[in-house]
Amino acid sequence: MKQQLEVIRKSALEAITAAAASEELEALRVKYLGKKGELTAVLKQMGKLSPEERPIMGQVANEVRAALEAAIDEARERLAAAKLEQQLIDEAIDVTIPGKEVRIGHKHPMYKALDEIKEIFVGMGFTVLDGPEVELASYNFDKLNAEEGHPSRDWSDTFYFDEDSRVMLRSQTSPMQVRAMETMKLPIRIIAPGRVYRKDEVDATHSPMFHQVEGMVIDKGVTMADLKGTLNAVMEELFGEGTVTRFRPHHFPFTEPSCEMDVQCHKCGGKGCPTCKGEGWIEVLGAGMVHPKVLEMSGIDSEEYTGWAFGMGLERLAMRRFKIADLRLIFENDVRFLEQF
Ligand code: DAH
Repeated sequence: MKQQLEVIRKSALEAITAAAASEELEALRVKYLGKKGELTAVLKQMGKLSPEERPIMGQVANEVRAALEAAIDEARERLAAAKLEQQLIDEAIDVTIPGKEVRIGHKHPMYKALDEIKEIFVGMGFTVLDGPEVELASYNFDKLNAEEGHPSRDWSDTFYFDEDSRVMLRSQTSPMQVRAMETMKLPIRIIAPGRVYRKDEVDATHSPMFHQVEGMVIDKGVTMADLKGTLNAVMEELFGEGTVTRFRPHHFPFTEPSCEMDVQCHKCGGKGCPTCKGEGWIEVLGAGMVHPKVLEMSGIDSEEYTGWAFGMGLERLAMRRFKIADLRLIFENDVRFLEQF
């Protein structure tokens, strides 16, 4: 029996010192010291021994148990320390690695131009309005004197939402004129910037979504001279003193008379180049005296009041303002481009 105990002591101690994981160690504890373990099995045979032998074997057996328990405790500590060591290696953070650079964006050049435009008009006493991009055709067309059959109402030009062409993406900011006349007290001085939508192909000067700034003044005794004087002052403020402009006659259903305003090309100074399509001028807005029919449809007495209005192309103005040659650059949002402003 003594020999049996020594064999257990030797093989158990070897196995315990060699254990490489805590699960393995636990299995060894069960194997030797558990209820059905090898040492327990030997102890169960003690009854067969003579009374003289029993205490001696009992002592040896206790020594073996104590030795195994001590070895298991020691191995447990060794494995825990090794595990911690490995964890520290695996989760190491190198605090000397340079941090990731966070890029801070800034305002898009078109919105910078819009801020300047707003500031100029606010300084002249205009109120800035915001209006719906999903608009009723009655506001986009009918109340602006563009009746049924007007070419701009065509399905091939306009994004409609419904079969009977009642709801649409606004094709111009001009419906804001009507919304202002219907809700505001006279006299009125407003601008209304925002997105507009048309079924245009993308090229250097066209996009299916672009921005306009609508403007309107309604008061007693307002004339075309006010229109020209105000818009010339705005262009000088925006592009610098001595900016050359011209007004050309045009036609819009909601103004009479109507005109378009051009600013001399910044790229060629009027000689003609690809940016101005060889014309020397860049068209920046449509304008005119508000048609008496439009005033009357919105409940304003056209005998007592007159008004003028305009719709600017914001991209065009931003291009002229920041000397940008191609409209697509404004929409692509390449940071290498945007960072230049
Ligand atoms: N809405 C016109 C367009 O998109 C521009 C315009 C012309 C607006 C004359 C006006 C105006 O307010 O009076 O082409």
